[in-house]
Amino acid sequence: MKLRYLGHSAFQIVSSSGTEIVIDPFLDNNPLAPFKSHQVSADYIIITHAHGDHIGDALKIAETGKTTFVCVSELAGMLANQGHKTHAMQIGGAFTFSFGRLKLVPALHGSMTPDGRYAGLAAGVVLSIDGKCIYHCGDTGLFGDMRLIGEMFDVDYMLVPIGGNYTMDIGDAIYAVRMINPKIAIPMHYNTFDLIRADPESFAKQVKEHGYSTQVLSPGDWA
Ligand code: NI
Ligand code: MN
Repeated sequence: MKLRYLGHSAFQIVSSSGTEIVIDPFLDNNPLAPFKSHQVSADYIIITHAHGDHIGDALKIAETGKTTFVCVSELAGMLANQGHKTHAMQIGGAFTFSFGRLKLVPALHGSMTPDGRYAGLAAGVVLSIDGKCIYHCGDTGLFGDMRLIGEMFDVDYMLVPIGGNYTMDIGDAIYAVRMINPKIAIPMHYNTFDLIRADPESFAKQVKEHGYSTQVLSPGDWA
C-alpha cells in the first residue's frame, strides 16, 4: 500500500494489487494541489462529504467510466442518478471491497452539494488495506467517540484536519491524536484558504511532545 498527499484533504492510495483509490479529490481549484484532475485516475473515489473542497473534481475524474464512488447513501443516490457507479454506505457500516475493508465513521460536520442539495451526514473513513489501517477523519470537530475508533482500530496513518474554523484546530487535533494513538499522524485541511491558516510544524512539534510520531507531507509527497 502506498499513500500520497494531494493537498487539502485529498489523498491517493494505491494498493499492492494496483487498485487506485482517491479520497476527497479537490485539485483543479486548489493552487497548492500537485496535479490537475486529468492527471489522476481512480478505480474508487471515497467522498467524505459533499462540500466543494471535498467532492471537488470527483465527477471529472470519473468521466473515464471506471470509477466507483463510495460515500453515504444520500450522496451516492444523487451520483447514481447522474449515471455513475456507486457503493452506498452509511455511518457505522463497513464493507469488504476487493482492495480492503472500509468503514464509515462519524464526523461532526455538515454536508451539502455545491448546488445546495442536502447530501446526508458527513463521514470519516477507516480503511484497512494491505495490513495497514488509515483513518481519514474527514472534516470534523473534536468528539469523544474518537476514543472508540482508537480502541477498535490499530491505526497506522491518521489523516487529521488542523486548520480550524470549519474543523479541529491544532489544539483539538492533538486531543484527537491522543484518542486515536496512531503510528503516524499526518496533518491536512490547512493553509488552502486564509480562514484555515495553521502551522503544520507547530502541530508536529506538539504531537511529538505527547510521544507520537508525525509526518508533515507536502502536496505530492508519498507517506
Ligand atoms: Ni466541509
Ligand atoms: Mn472542508
